[in-house]
Amino acid sequence: MPAIKTANRPDEWKIEQGLSGAVLPVLDMTGPKTKAIPPQEFGKLTKDEDAIKAVGDRNKLFKAERKGWKGYVEWEKYPEKKAAAHKILTSQTFPPNPEFQLGPIPGTNPVLPGTHWKMWHHAIGGELDAVPDDSWKLVLKEKHPDMLHLLQFPYNGEPPKRLVTDKEITPNSLHFVRNHGGIPIIDKENYSFTLDGLVAKPQTFTLDDLMDESRFPRMEKYVTIQCSGTRRIEQILKYPGQGDEVPQAPWAEGAIGTAKYVGISLKKVIKACGGLVGEGKHLELYGADTYFKDDKTMNYLVSVPWSKVKANEVMLAWEMNGEPLPRIHGYPLRVVVLGYIGARSVKWLYRIKAIETPSWAPVQSQEYLYFPQQVGKHNFKLTDGIQIQEMPVSSAIMSPWTKQVVVHNGAIRCKGWAYSGGGRWPERVELSADGGFNWYTVPLSKLSKKRAWTWRTWEMDLPCDVEGWVEIVCRCWDNALNTQPPDVRTAWNWGLHVTSSCHRISVYSVNKTKPLTRARMDEFDEKGVPFGPITVPLAWPSQGWDEYGEFWKKNGPRDAADE
Ligand code: MTE
Repeated sequence: MPAIKTANRPDEWKIEQGLSGAVLPVLDMTGPKTKAIPPQEFGKLTKDEDAIKAVGDRNKLFKAERKGWKGYVEWEKYPEKKAAAHKILTSQTFPPNPEFQLGPIPGTNPVLPGTHWKMWHHAIGGELDAVPDDSWKLVLKEKHPDMLHLLQFPYNGEPPKRLVTDKEITPNSLHFVRNHGGIPIIDKENYSFTLDGLVAKPQTFTLDDLMDESRFPRMEKYVTIQCSGTRRIEQILKYPGQGDEVPQAPWAEGAIGTAKYVGISLKKVIKACGGLVGEGKHLELYGADTYFKDDKTMNYLVSVPWSKVKANEVMLAWEMNGEPLPRIHGYPLRVVVLGYIGARSVKWLYRIKAIETPSWAPVQSQEYLYFPQQVGKHNFKLTDGIQIQEMPVSSAIMSPWTKQVVVHNGAIRCKGWAYSGGGRWPERVELSADGGFNWYTVPLSKLSKKRAWTWRTWEMDLPCDVEGWVEIVCRCWDNALNTQPPDVRTAWNWGLHVTSSCHRISVYSVNKTKPLTRARMDEFDEKGVPFGPITVPLAWPSQGWDEYGEFWKKNGPRDAADE
């Protein structure tokens, strides 16, 4: 066929329909005429080799910090090391974030490779050079082969829906993983952490110290850890927001998991250090992994308030579901903060510092912020955001899946989870098959055990008489009678956090209790033709011509008489 001469881009139709939104020009309507301003373009990558060389020998500058700790660089104690790393990172450019919000998400597993995160690690070199490869090897070793890898490095992965609520207690290999950096590989024998800052007697503790029951009573708790990014994909699909691949990883419903942790209460360790002194009111928790933000390197730091620690709700844990913590989940020691978002449960803990105010480190002060709807790229201030701590009540349907065809006998078998943060728990789970107008309660016998700090998994046969597209909605009421906002839009926010709105899925209902449907479905069986996908036209007539003729004889003519 002859080529078409056109000024359009080949995907012009798609762009006009907003299906490739990143290339749309911005319309400036502030003047008398509307101006179209093309979006930012990223130029060629550059590298100033001389400037980088002048920084010094990277193997010496960023060498292993401690014996038996691989992949750990201490940043927080050494401003000069941070300055050297900053110089290296600003003497070259790196590829931009992949666009995964304003265009289709890649159909690969891992979904996103984390290219610039790998490049940053290699650019710093020294102890960080092997971290991307070592971390991926640990993913393959410790995680279930069916995990969905959202981001290869830093590793972020969740189980597929069918395995999220398969068990009430999540097997370790299927527990979601959220990392901001690589996985430090730490020997148990060489492990210790330091507690310092505003405490009477700063001290260092080995694992043996912590495990000494004459000093620290054991604590054993079932805990659900939920990332505040859980179900973010629903916000992204509605309206894109901030698009950093690590802070805004495109999670589905699996960034939540429940395990039994064994350890001790952080409160007792602080007591062993003589308690807090002066204005000490917060505990800053240091993870041994390296995080990159704004061309700067740092360790993973967040903080929890003393009030939370004092209530014995902050654990130092070494065991997960009867096994030593897997490396990917923080071996040898991690923090588990009951009822707070996962971000505060620091893995690979190497230091705790008592401080006066919540941490100013980026993960605490710049991320995990819940902004009001009117603020975004052009106008947000950090102080506009609520620092997210306790997750509100939420729930999700794990089966069926959205856009799925369900053939049933008047009830759709549904499965899912429900959770509430802050020590509240799901009391009632409700499902609707009509978009949220009428609700059926999940029988209590179909809800898993009630505990203060865990989710409840549930199952129910949801009555559904109608056929065609139906919207199944799920919501939970917690013990404080909190429930979920009705839809994603009402709680959409620039950081795309806390998608706690009622979970809505569209399924195509085929109700075999209807005689015509049953007869037609039997025909599919007899002919051996699969019913799905519903978009494929029917391969044989839906009605015989005799029946058609009979109809018109009885009901005709087609048009009303003009009388
Ligand atoms: N601790 C360190 N050191 N580094 C991290 O990147 N991620 C946090 C938290 N602890 C993180 C960390 C976040 S955001 C979450 S949701 C939880 O770990 C996830 O815990 P998991 O990976 O064991 O499921």
